[in-house]
Amino acid sequence: MAIQIPRGTQDILPGTVEKWQYIEAKAKEICEIYNYKEIRTPIFESTELFFRGVGDTTDVVQKEMYTFEDRGGRSLTLRPEGTASVARSYVNNKMFGSPNQPTKLFYIGQMFRYERPQAGRFRQFVQFGIEALGSNDPSIDAEVIALAVDLYQSLGLKNLKVVINSLGDQESRQAHRDALINHFQPRINEFCGDCQSRLEKNPLRILDCKKDREHELMSTAPSILAYLNGDSKAYFDKVIGYLEVMGVNYEIDPNLVRGLDYYFHTAFEIMSTSEGFGAITTLCGGGRYNGLVQEIGGPETPGIGFALSIERLISAMEAENVEFPKEDSIDCFVIALGEKAKDTAVKLLFDLRKAGIVSEKDYQDKKLKAQFKAADRLQAKYTVVFGDDELDKGVVSIKEMETGEQQEVPFENAVAYISEKKSEERS
Ligand code: HAM
Repeated sequence: MAIQIPRGTQDILPGTVEKWQYIEAKAKEICEIYNYKEIRTPIFESTELFFRGVGDTTDVVQKEMYTFEDRGGRSLTLRPEGTASVARSYVNNKMFGSPNQPTKLFYIGQMFRYERPQAGRFRQFVQFGIEALGSNDPSIDAEVIALAVDLYQSLGLKNLKVVINSLGDQESRQAHRDALINHFQPRINEFCGDCQSRLEKNPLRILDCKKDREHELMSTAPSILAYLNGDSKAYFDKVIGYLEVMGVNYEIDPNLVRGLDYYFHTAFEIMSTSEGFGAITTLCGGGRYNGLVQEIGGPETPGIGFALSIERLISAMEAENVEFPKEDSIDCFVIALGEKAKDTAVKLLFDLRKAGIVSEKDYQDKKLKAQFKAADRLQAKYTVVFGDDELDKGVVSIKEMETGEQQEVPFENAVAYISEKKSEERS
């Protein structure tokens, strides 16, 4: 039996990979405009990074990591997300020492989570994310959200909803935490085992429980917004004010609790509101993580960012019937008939390519008609046709496939002829 692809992973084949390349190019373009620079970090990291960074009470760390021991006995983990790695790199490379603060970074890369695969949920997926480290200015929170919206809109998405919340600073979170414990404690035995162990360690995570979603205590749980102290409230108001200035529509959802532990102040998600998009509507998630850099051994540094998966982005584009750019055609297909002509075609093809002309030929000894068919399939704009007789005369026949117009051209002029036609098309 043929070996199967692992569950929750996918092959991205030619024909589809162009969609990915298009989106990745757009993401890079937007990052350039907003002045975020690319960072590439390893796909595996010390397991401890995620325990300390993402948080050991989170589902991601407790249940979803691909952790293994290497031959030297070190515990390593395939990265489940990018923020902890970026923070680690920020510390290791002393980026905090650079005069250019905040440090604005972006990444595109594979992430790994052992989750139950379903539509929009994979075990290997690609996140595009940005992180801005070193600033406590609420305008950067708004910038990060605006960048995500800008990317989605520039790709043609319309059915978007930005949901935002504030988790407050340390003091506000502590007050809210105490209120949550008081709220849930008397009836905690009605909740699942996970929630019971979350009560003391991280009661905020109870609000995110899928199993106990319908429990009556969920809808009456104290809202974080009621516990924001003056500073936290002022910060949140500023972020929202900047979003309004930029014309970014948003909804405040006091129940928005992100699945990772490192958030303070701003937390947000962007959802698709397309009908029939599927059960998982979150396209993007992010927020401010003011304790993370310190948690992993660096100086106290505020940070904010988001990540989105390209898989969900493509699904959202498909749900809105957004057009992707057409598949690329080629410039030229070389059709050679006869032994001598075939040998000569090798060099001609090479010369065409050296001149920047996207070219192809037959490698399967096909007949003339089948070669024309192959040229059609590749949507070749021109074919260069010659047999041994033409070679003896030193000419080739160049056909413009769309019009059917045919021209006899001296062999040595063939490359220049097509080059010229190509630059005429462009102008
Ligand atoms: P996250 O909410 O865990 O946040 O993931 C962010 C996004 O990654 C999700 O909104 C979704 O688009 C995508 N995603 C997550 N899991 C899967 C999956 N199994 N299959 C497909 N897509 C998935 C983070 O990862 C944070 N690091 C975001 C962040 C950056 N916060 C601050 N900076």
